[in-house]
Amino acid sequence: MAVRRKTTAPAPSPPPPKAETPLPPPPSEDQPLRPPKLGLVLAALVAFTVPYLYLIYFHYEIESDLRRSIAINAAMSVGGFVVVVRLIPVAAKYVLRRNLFGFDINKKGTPEGNIRVPESLGIVVGVVFLVIAILFQHFNFTADSNWLVEYNAALASICFMLLLGFVDDVLDIPWRVKLLLPSFAGLPLLMAYAGHTTIIIPKPLIPYIGSAVLDLGWIYKLYMGMLAVFCTNSINIHAGLNGLEVGQTVVIAAAVLIHNVMQIGASTDPEYKQAHAFSIYLVQPFLATSMALFSYNWYPSSVFVGDTYTYFAGMSLAVVGILGHFSETLLLFFLPQVLNFLYSLPQLLKIIPCPRHRLPRYDPKTGLLTGTKDGTLVNLFLRLFGSCSEKTLCIKLLVFQALSCLFCFWLRHVLAGWYK
Ligand code: UD1
Ligand code: MG
Repeated sequence: MAVRRKTTAPAPSPPPPKAETPLPPPPSEDQPLRPPKLGLVLAALVAFTVPYLYLIYFHYEIESDLRRSIAINAAMSVGGFVVVVRLIPVAAKYVLRRNLFGFDINKKGTPEGNIRVPESLGIVVGVVFLVIAILFQHFNFTADSNWLVEYNAALASICFMLLLGFVDDVLDIPWRVKLLLPSFAGLPLLMAYAGHTTIIIPKPLIPYIGSAVLDLGWIYKLYMGMLAVFCTNSINIHAGLNGLEVGQTVVIAAAVLIHNVMQIGASTDPEYKQAHAFSIYLVQPFLATSMALFSYNWYPSSVFVGDTYTYFAGMSLAVVGILGHFSETLLLFFLPQVLNFLYSLPQLLKIIPCPRHRLPRYDPKTGLLTGTKDGTLVNLFLRLFGSCSEKTLCIKLLVFQALSCLFCFWLRHVLAGWYK
Protein backbone atom coordinates (compact mmCIF):
# COMPACT_ATOMS: atom_id res chain seq x y z
CA MET A 1 0.00 0.00 0.00
CA ALA A 2 1.23 3.44 -0.77
CA VAL A 3 2.07 5.47 2.26
CA ARG A 4 2.36 9.17 2.09
CA ARG A 5 2.62 12.40 3.96
CA LYS A 6 -0.59 14.23 3.15
CA THR A 7 0.46 17.85 2.97
CA THR A 8 2.50 19.41 0.22
CA ALA A 9 2.65 22.68 2.07
CA PRO A 10 5.95 24.57 1.86
CA ALA A 11 6.51 24.28 5.58
CA PRO A 12 7.25 22.82 8.09
CA SER A 13 8.87 21.33 4.96
CA PRO A 14 10.37 18.08 6.10
CA PRO A 15 11.27 15.75 3.26
CA PRO A 16 9.00 12.79 2.51
CA PRO A 17 9.08 10.18 5.23
CA LYS A 18 11.96 7.84 4.68
CA ALA A 19 13.44 5.74 7.41
CA GLU A 20 16.66 7.74 7.47
CA THR A 21 15.16 11.25 7.44
CA PRO A 22 13.84 12.59 10.73
CA LEU A 23 10.20 13.62 10.84
CA PRO A 24 8.80 16.39 13.01
CA PRO A 25 8.03 15.38 16.55
CA PRO A 26 6.63 13.20 17.96
CA PRO A 27 5.81 9.87 16.31
CA SER A 28 2.50 10.43 17.97
CA GLU A 29 0.97 7.05 17.28
CA ASP A 30 0.40 6.43 20.94
CA GLN A 31 -0.19 10.02 21.84
CA PRO A 32 -3.90 10.36 22.68
CA LEU A 33 -5.97 12.74 20.57
CA ARG A 34 -7.21 15.95 22.09
CA PRO A 35 -10.70 15.18 23.46
CA PRO A 36 -13.67 15.97 21.19
CA LYS A 37 -15.41 19.31 21.71
CA LEU A 38 -18.60 17.56 22.72
CA GLY A 39 -20.06 20.49 24.67
CA LEU A 40 -20.04 22.71 21.62
CA VAL A 41 -21.39 20.02 19.32
CA LEU A 42 -24.16 18.92 21.70
CA ALA A 43 -25.22 22.55 22.20
CA ALA A 44 -25.41 23.00 18.41
CA LEU A 45 -27.36 19.75 18.05
CA VAL A 46 -29.89 20.77 20.71
CA ALA A 47 -30.26 24.24 19.14
CA PHE A 48 -31.17 22.52 15.87
CA THR A 49 -33.18 19.58 17.19
CA VAL A 50 -35.67 21.57 19.27
CA PRO A 51 -37.14 23.60 16.37
CA TYR A 52 -36.80 20.58 14.08
CA LEU A 53 -38.87 18.36 16.38
CA TYR A 54 -41.35 21.17 16.89
CA LEU A 55 -41.93 21.33 13.12
CA ILE A 56 -42.38 17.57 12.85
CA TYR A 57 -44.56 16.96 15.90
CA PHE A 58 -46.49 20.18 16.48
CA HIS A 59 -46.38 22.61 13.61
CA TYR A 60 -47.26 20.26 10.75
CA GLU A 61 -49.68 17.39 10.57
CA ILE A 62 -47.55 14.52 9.37
CA GLU A 63 -48.80 10.92 9.08
CA SER A 64 -47.88 8.78 12.07
CA ASP A 65 -46.19 6.17 9.83
CA LEU A 66 -43.88 8.78 8.42
CA ARG A 67 -43.20 10.27 11.85
CA ARG A 68 -42.35 6.82 13.11
CA SER A 69 -39.89 6.16 10.30
CA ILE A 70 -38.26 9.54 10.89
CA ALA A 71 -38.01 8.81 14.62
CA ILE A 72 -36.43 5.36 14.07
CA ASN A 73 -33.99 6.88 11.62
CA ALA A 74 -33.18 9.64 14.13
CA ALA A 75 -32.55 7.10 16.90
CA MET A 76 -30.17 5.18 14.62
CA SER A 77 -28.47 8.46 13.79
CA VAL A 78 -27.86 9.17 17.47
CA GLY A 79 -26.28 5.71 17.72
CA GLY A 80 -24.13 6.61 14.70
CA PHE A 81 -22.98 9.79 16.43
CA VAL A 82 -21.79 7.84 19.48
CA VAL A 83 -20.04 5.22 17.35
CA VAL A 84 -18.18 7.84 15.28
CA VAL A 85 -17.06 9.73 18.41
CA ARG A 86 -15.63 6.48 19.77
CA LEU A 87 -14.13 5.20 16.54
CA ILE A 88 -12.25 8.33 15.46
CA PRO A 89 -9.43 8.03 18.04
CA VAL A 90 -8.99 4.37 17.08
CA ALA A 91 -8.96 5.10 13.34
CA ALA A 92 -6.62 8.07 13.92
CA LYS A 93 -3.99 5.70 15.32
CA TYR A 94 -4.24 3.47 12.27
CA VAL A 95 -3.97 6.27 9.70
CA LEU A 96 -0.95 7.72 11.53
CA ARG A 97 0.66 4.30 11.50
CA ARG A 98 0.32 4.41 7.70
CA ASN A 99 1.74 7.95 7.53
CA LEU A 100 -1.56 9.41 6.42
CA PHE A 101 -1.32 12.78 8.11
CA GLY A 102 -1.12 16.48 7.32
CA PHE A 103 0.41 19.56 8.88
CA ASP A 104 -1.81 22.38 9.99
CA ILE A 105 -0.74 25.03 7.51
CA ASN A 106 -2.47 27.89 9.32
CA LYS A 107 -0.33 27.21 12.41
CA LYS A 108 2.96 27.08 10.53
CA GLY A 109 5.80 28.50 12.61
CA THR A 110 4.29 27.44 15.95
CA PRO A 111 4.79 24.11 17.78
CA GLU A 112 1.26 23.15 16.74
CA GLY A 113 2.27 23.48 13.12
CA ASN A 114 4.72 20.61 13.59
CA ILE A 115 2.18 18.12 14.87
CA ARG A 116 1.25 15.31 12.54
CA VAL A 117 -2.52 15.60 12.30
CA PRO A 118 -4.24 12.34 11.27
CA GLU A 119 -5.84 12.76 7.84
CA SER A 120 -8.87 11.24 6.03
CA LEU A 121 -11.00 10.62 9.12
CA GLY A 122 -14.01 11.12 6.88
CA ILE A 123 -13.69 7.40 6.22
CA VAL A 124 -15.16 6.69 9.67
CA VAL A 125 -18.15 8.94 9.03
CA GLY A 126 -18.69 7.39 5.61
CA VAL A 127 -18.62 3.81 6.82
CA VAL A 128 -20.87 4.40 9.83
CA PHE A 129 -23.29 6.43 7.70
CA LEU A 130 -23.49 3.65 5.12
CA VAL A 131 -24.13 0.98 7.75
CA ILE A 132 -27.00 3.03 9.20
CA ALA A 133 -28.45 3.82 5.78
CA ILE A 134 -28.30 0.15 4.74
CA LEU A 135 -29.81 -1.14 7.99
CA PHE A 136 -32.55 1.48 7.95
CA GLN A 137 -34.18 -0.12 4.92
CA HIS A 138 -35.33 -2.88 7.23
CA PHE A 139 -37.25 -0.45 9.41
CA ASN A 140 -38.84 1.68 6.76
CA PHE A 141 -42.56 1.14 6.86
CA THR A 142 -43.51 2.93 3.67
CA ALA A 143 -41.03 1.23 1.34
CA ASP A 144 -41.98 0.13 -2.14
CA SER A 145 -39.68 -1.54 -4.63
CA ASN A 146 -39.12 1.55 -6.81
CA TRP A 147 -38.05 3.51 -3.80
CA LEU A 148 -35.59 0.83 -2.74
CA VAL A 149 -33.91 0.67 -6.16
CA GLU A 150 -33.15 4.38 -6.11
CA TYR A 151 -32.22 4.32 -2.45
CA ASN A 152 -29.66 1.60 -3.04
CA ALA A 153 -28.35 3.25 -6.18
CA ALA A 154 -27.87 6.43 -4.12
CA LEU A 155 -25.94 4.43 -1.51
CA ALA A 156 -23.79 2.84 -4.22
CA SER A 157 -22.88 6.30 -5.56
CA ILE A 158 -22.05 7.59 -2.08
CA CYS A 159 -19.99 4.47 -1.35
CA PHE A 160 -18.13 4.74 -4.68
CA MET A 161 -17.38 8.40 -3.94
CA LEU A 162 -16.10 7.53 -0.48
CA LEU A 163 -13.74 5.01 -2.04
CA LEU A 164 -12.48 7.46 -4.68
CA GLY A 165 -12.05 10.19 -2.05
CA PHE A 166 -9.95 7.83 0.04
CA VAL A 167 -7.95 6.82 -3.04
CA ASP A 168 -7.31 10.52 -3.67
CA ASP A 169 -6.11 11.02 -0.09
CA VAL A 170 -3.72 8.11 -0.39
CA LEU A 171 -2.48 8.73 -3.94
CA ASP A 172 -2.85 12.53 -4.20
CA ILE A 173 -4.43 12.49 -7.64
CA PRO A 174 -3.71 15.46 -9.97
CA TRP A 175 -6.32 18.22 -10.07
CA ARG A 176 -7.70 17.66 -13.55
CA VAL A 177 -8.41 13.99 -12.79
CA LYS A 178 -9.70 14.79 -9.36
CA LEU A 179 -12.37 17.03 -10.82
CA LEU A 180 -13.74 14.08 -12.80
CA LEU A 181 -13.91 11.49 -10.01
CA PRO A 182 -17.48 12.37 -8.97
CA SER A 183 -18.77 11.79 -12.49
CA PHE A 184 -17.71 8.14 -12.17
CA ALA A 185 -19.10 7.85 -8.67
CA GLY A 186 -22.44 9.28 -9.82
CA LEU A 187 -22.91 6.52 -12.42
CA PRO A 188 -24.80 4.01 -10.23
CA LEU A 189 -27.43 6.63 -9.51
CA LEU A 190 -27.65 7.90 -13.08
CA MET A 191 -28.05 4.38 -14.46
CA ALA A 192 -30.69 3.32 -11.94
CA TYR A 193 -32.60 6.57 -12.04
CA ALA A 194 -36.10 5.82 -13.27
CA GLY A 195 -37.74 9.00 -12.03
CA HIS A 196 -39.04 11.75 -14.24
CA THR A 197 -36.71 13.74 -16.45
CA THR A 198 -39.08 16.69 -16.74
CA ILE A 199 -38.69 20.09 -15.18
CA ILE A 200 -41.45 22.46 -14.21
CA ILE A 201 -40.99 25.69 -16.11
CA PRO A 202 -41.05 28.83 -13.95
CA LYS A 203 -44.38 30.61 -14.51
CA PRO A 204 -42.84 33.81 -15.93
CA LEU A 205 -41.07 31.75 -18.62
CA ILE A 206 -44.08 29.62 -19.72
CA PRO A 207 -45.17 32.05 -22.49
CA TYR A 208 -41.71 31.88 -24.04
CA ILE A 209 -41.33 28.10 -23.84
CA GLY A 210 -44.94 27.33 -24.62
CA SER A 211 -45.46 24.63 -22.02
CA ALA A 212 -45.59 24.30 -18.24
CA VAL A 213 -43.36 21.22 -18.15
CA LEU A 214 -40.42 20.31 -20.31
CA ASP A 215 -39.00 16.81 -20.75
CA LEU A 216 -35.24 17.13 -20.84
CA GLY A 217 -34.56 13.40 -21.39
CA TRP A 218 -30.86 12.58 -21.27
CA ILE A 219 -29.98 16.24 -20.66
CA TYR A 220 -31.61 15.86 -17.25
CA LYS A 221 -29.26 12.97 -16.46
CA LEU A 222 -26.32 15.04 -17.63
CA TYR A 223 -27.48 17.79 -15.30
CA MET A 224 -27.62 15.27 -12.42
CA GLY A 225 -24.05 14.21 -13.16
CA MET A 226 -22.88 17.80 -13.30
CA LEU A 227 -24.60 18.56 -10.01
CA ALA A 228 -22.68 15.71 -8.37
CA VAL A 229 -19.39 17.01 -9.81
CA PHE A 230 -20.17 20.53 -8.63
CA CYS A 231 -21.31 19.65 -5.09
CA THR A 232 -18.30 17.47 -4.35
CA ASN A 233 -15.63 19.76 -5.77
CA SER A 234 -17.16 22.96 -4.49
CA ILE A 235 -17.06 21.68 -0.91
CA ASN A 236 -13.52 20.42 -1.39
CA ILE A 237 -12.20 23.79 -2.58
CA HIS A 238 -13.99 25.80 0.12
CA ALA A 239 -11.63 24.38 2.70
CA GLY A 240 -8.36 24.66 4.57
CA LEU A 241 -9.54 26.16 7.89
CA ASN A 242 -10.12 24.01 10.95
CA GLY A 243 -13.79 23.06 10.97
CA LEU A 244 -14.71 24.63 7.64
CA GLU A 245 -15.19 21.46 5.57
CA VAL A 246 -17.51 19.79 8.08
CA GLY A 247 -18.98 23.08 9.31
CA GLN A 248 -20.30 24.15 5.92
CA THR A 249 -21.68 20.67 5.34
CA VAL A 250 -23.60 20.45 8.59
CA VAL A 251 -25.12 23.90 8.04
CA ILE A 252 -26.34 22.84 4.59
CA ALA A 253 -27.54 19.46 5.90
CA ALA A 254 -29.52 21.16 8.67
CA ALA A 255 -31.13 23.49 6.13
CA VAL A 256 -31.97 20.52 3.89
CA LEU A 257 -33.71 18.77 6.80
CA ILE A 258 -35.81 21.83 7.64
CA HIS A 259 -36.68 22.26 3.98
CA ASN A 260 -37.78 18.61 3.72
CA VAL A 261 -40.03 18.83 6.76
CA MET A 262 -41.58 22.06 5.49
CA GLN A 263 -42.30 20.45 2.12
CA ILE A 264 -43.78 17.31 3.65
CA GLY A 265 -45.90 19.40 6.00
CA ALA A 266 -47.23 21.63 3.25
CA SER A 267 -47.99 18.91 0.68
CA THR A 268 -50.82 16.44 0.16
CA ASP A 269 -49.16 14.55 -2.71
CA PRO A 270 -47.88 11.17 -1.38
CA GLU A 271 -45.16 10.88 -4.04
CA TYR A 272 -43.86 14.35 -3.28
CA LYS A 273 -43.83 13.56 0.43
CA GLN A 274 -42.01 10.31 -0.21
CA ALA A 275 -39.28 12.10 -2.15
CA HIS A 276 -38.65 14.44 0.79
CA ALA A 277 -38.90 11.64 3.35
CA PHE A 278 -36.24 9.80 1.34
CA SER A 279 -34.01 12.81 1.70
CA ILE A 280 -34.60 12.95 5.48
CA TYR A 281 -33.65 9.29 5.89
CA LEU A 282 -30.27 9.98 4.35
CA VAL A 283 -29.58 13.41 5.81
CA GLN A 284 -30.35 12.64 9.47
CA PRO A 285 -27.59 10.02 9.82
CA PHE A 286 -25.36 12.14 7.61
CA LEU A 287 -25.77 15.15 9.89
CA ALA A 288 -25.34 13.16 13.11
CA THR A 289 -22.18 11.35 12.00
CA SER A 290 -20.74 14.57 10.55
CA MET A 291 -21.32 16.36 13.87
CA ALA A 292 -19.27 13.66 15.58
CA LEU A 293 -16.40 14.35 13.16
CA PHE A 294 -16.90 18.09 13.72
CA SER A 295 -16.22 17.60 17.43
CA TYR A 296 -12.67 16.51 16.53
CA ASN A 297 -12.20 18.81 13.55
CA TRP A 298 -13.26 22.11 15.12
CA TYR A 299 -10.46 24.53 16.00
CA PRO A 300 -7.86 23.42 16.99
CA SER A 301 -8.30 20.31 14.81
CA SER A 302 -7.22 16.99 16.30
CA VAL A 303 -7.97 15.30 12.98
CA PHE A 304 -8.38 16.33 9.34
CA VAL A 305 -11.34 15.14 7.33
CA GLY A 306 -9.55 14.53 4.03
CA ASP A 307 -10.94 14.49 0.53
CA THR A 308 -12.60 11.28 1.67
CA TYR A 309 -15.04 13.43 3.61
CA THR A 310 -15.43 16.41 1.26
CA TYR A 311 -16.27 14.11 -1.68
CA PHE A 312 -18.51 11.90 0.41
CA ALA A 313 -20.35 14.94 1.77
CA GLY A 314 -20.79 16.57 -1.63
CA MET A 315 -22.09 13.36 -3.16
CA SER A 316 -24.50 12.71 -0.29
CA LEU A 317 -25.99 16.18 -0.61
CA ALA A 318 -26.16 15.95 -4.42
CA VAL A 319 -27.93 12.61 -4.19
CA VAL A 320 -30.58 13.83 -1.77
CA GLY A 321 -31.08 16.96 -3.89
CA ILE A 322 -31.52 14.88 -7.04
CA LEU A 323 -33.81 12.21 -5.61
CA GLY A 324 -35.71 14.68 -3.45
CA HIS A 325 -36.23 16.81 -6.58
CA PHE A 326 -35.02 20.05 -5.01
CA SER A 327 -31.72 20.66 -6.76
CA GLU A 328 -32.45 24.38 -7.36
CA THR A 329 -33.04 24.91 -3.65
CA LEU A 330 -29.90 22.91 -2.90
CA LEU A 331 -27.87 25.20 -5.15
CA LEU A 332 -29.19 28.19 -3.22
CA PHE A 333 -28.04 26.54 0.02
CA PHE A 334 -24.69 26.19 -1.76
CA LEU A 335 -24.45 29.94 -2.42
CA PRO A 336 -21.02 30.43 -0.72
CA GLN A 337 -19.69 27.39 -2.61
CA VAL A 338 -21.05 28.79 -5.90
CA LEU A 339 -19.37 32.15 -5.21
CA ASN A 340 -16.13 30.47 -4.18
CA PHE A 341 -16.22 28.31 -7.30
CA LEU A 342 -16.80 31.26 -9.63
CA TYR A 343 -14.07 33.24 -7.89
CA SER A 344 -11.75 30.22 -8.20
CA LEU A 345 -12.38 29.66 -11.91
CA PRO A 346 -9.41 31.70 -13.23
CA GLN A 347 -7.06 29.62 -11.07
CA LEU A 348 -8.85 26.31 -11.69
CA LEU A 349 -8.62 26.93 -15.44
CA LYS A 350 -4.96 27.88 -14.96
CA ILE A 351 -5.52 31.34 -16.47
CA ILE A 352 -3.85 32.54 -13.27
CA PRO A 353 -1.23 30.25 -11.63
CA CYS A 354 -2.76 27.97 -9.00
CA PRO A 355 -0.54 26.90 -6.08
CA ARG A 356 -1.13 23.55 -4.38
CA HIS A 357 -2.66 25.32 -1.36
CA ARG A 358 -4.55 28.59 -1.74
CA LEU A 359 -4.55 29.44 1.93
CA PRO A 360 -4.08 32.76 3.78
CA ARG A 361 -0.77 33.91 5.26
CA TYR A 362 -0.31 33.10 8.93
CA ASP A 363 1.67 35.34 11.24
CA PRO A 364 2.94 33.24 14.17
CA LYS A 365 3.70 36.41 16.20
CA THR A 366 0.15 37.79 16.19
CA GLY A 367 -1.67 34.50 15.51
CA LEU A 368 -3.66 36.24 12.77
CA LEU A 369 -4.38 35.28 9.18
CA THR A 370 -4.03 37.74 6.30
CA GLY A 371 -5.66 37.30 2.92
CA THR A 372 -3.52 36.47 -0.11
CA LYS A 373 -4.34 37.18 -3.75
CA ASP A 374 -5.55 33.61 -4.32
CA GLY A 375 -9.16 33.55 -5.47
CA THR A 376 -10.97 31.95 -2.57
CA LEU A 377 -13.77 33.15 -0.32
CA VAL A 378 -11.45 32.54 2.64
CA ASN A 379 -8.96 35.09 1.32
CA LEU A 380 -11.69 37.45 0.16
CA PHE A 381 -13.23 37.56 3.64
CA LEU A 382 -9.83 38.42 5.13
CA ARG A 383 -9.27 41.16 2.58
CA LEU A 384 -12.79 42.59 3.04
CA PHE A 385 -13.14 42.33 6.80
CA GLY A 386 -9.50 42.49 7.89
CA SER A 387 -7.07 39.98 9.41
CA CYS A 388 -8.39 37.72 12.13
CA SER A 389 -7.72 34.39 13.82
CA GLU A 390 -8.46 31.11 12.08
CA LYS A 391 -11.32 30.35 14.47
CA THR A 392 -12.98 33.75 13.98
CA LEU A 393 -12.64 33.46 10.22
CA CYS A 394 -14.23 30.03 10.23
CA ILE A 395 -17.12 31.31 12.36
CA LYS A 396 -17.64 34.22 9.95
CA LEU A 397 -17.73 31.85 6.98
CA LEU A 398 -20.16 29.49 8.72
CA VAL A 399 -22.42 32.42 9.64
CA PHE A 400 -22.34 33.43 5.99
CA GLN A 401 -23.34 29.87 5.07
CA ALA A 402 -26.25 29.98 7.51
CA LEU A 403 -27.33 33.40 6.19
CA SER A 404 -27.28 32.00 2.65
CA CYS A 405 -29.61 29.21 3.76
CA LEU A 406 -31.93 31.74 5.41
CA PHE A 407 -31.84 33.82 2.23
CA CYS A 408 -32.88 30.71 0.29
CA PHE A 409 -35.87 30.11 2.61
CA TRP A 410 -36.85 33.77 2.27
CA LEU A 411 -36.53 33.67 -1.52
CA ARG A 412 -38.66 30.53 -1.75
CA HIS A 413 -41.27 32.22 0.43
CA VAL A 414 -41.30 35.40 -1.66
CA LEU A 415 -41.37 33.58 -5.00
CA ALA A 416 -43.95 30.96 -3.95
CA GLY A 417 -46.90 30.99 -6.33
CA TRP A 418 -45.29 33.51 -8.66
CA TYR A 419 -42.25 31.52 -9.76
CA LYS A 420 -43.62 27.94 -9.78
C1 UD1 B 1 -8.10 22.12 -1.68
C2 UD1 B 1 -7.80 23.52 -2.23
C3 UD1 B 1 -6.51 24.07 -1.65
C4 UD1 B 1 -6.59 24.06 -0.13
C5 UD1 B 1 -6.91 22.65 0.37
C6 UD1 B 1 -7.11 22.69 1.88
C7 UD1 B 1 -8.23 24.43 -4.43
C8 UD1 B 1 -8.01 24.30 -5.89
N1 UD1 B 1 -7.68 23.46 -3.65
O1 UD1 B 1 -7.12 21.26 -2.22
O2 UD1 B 1 -6.28 25.37 -2.10
O3 UD1 B 1 -5.38 24.49 0.43
O4 UD1 B 1 -8.11 22.15 -0.26
O5 UD1 B 1 -7.91 21.73 2.36
O6 UD1 B 1 -8.88 25.33 -3.97
N2 UD1 B 1 -5.29 21.73 5.94
C9 UD1 B 1 -4.98 22.62 6.95
N3 UD1 B 1 -5.97 23.00 7.80
C10 UD1 B 1 -7.24 22.53 7.70
C11 UD1 B 1 -7.55 21.62 6.66
C12 UD1 B 1 -6.54 21.23 5.80
O7 UD1 B 1 -3.85 23.05 7.08
O8 UD1 B 1 -8.10 22.88 8.49
C13 UD1 B 1 -4.21 21.28 5.07
C14 UD1 B 1 -3.47 20.11 5.69
O9 UD1 B 1 -2.12 20.19 5.36
C15 UD1 B 1 -4.12 18.93 4.99
C16 UD1 B 1 -4.35 19.50 3.62
O10 UD1 B 1 -4.73 20.86 3.82
O11 UD1 B 1 -3.28 17.80 4.96
C17 UD1 B 1 -5.44 18.79 2.88
O12 UD1 B 1 -5.46 19.29 1.60
P1 UD1 B 1 -6.25 18.50 0.46
O13 UD1 B 1 -7.64 18.24 0.89
O14 UD1 B 1 -5.48 17.34 -0.01
O15 UD1 B 1 -6.24 19.63 -0.65
P2 UD1 B 1 -7.12 19.68 -1.95
O16 UD1 B 1 -8.48 19.18 -1.69
O17 UD1 B 1 -6.37 19.08 -3.08
MG1 MG C 1 -9.45 18.55 0.09
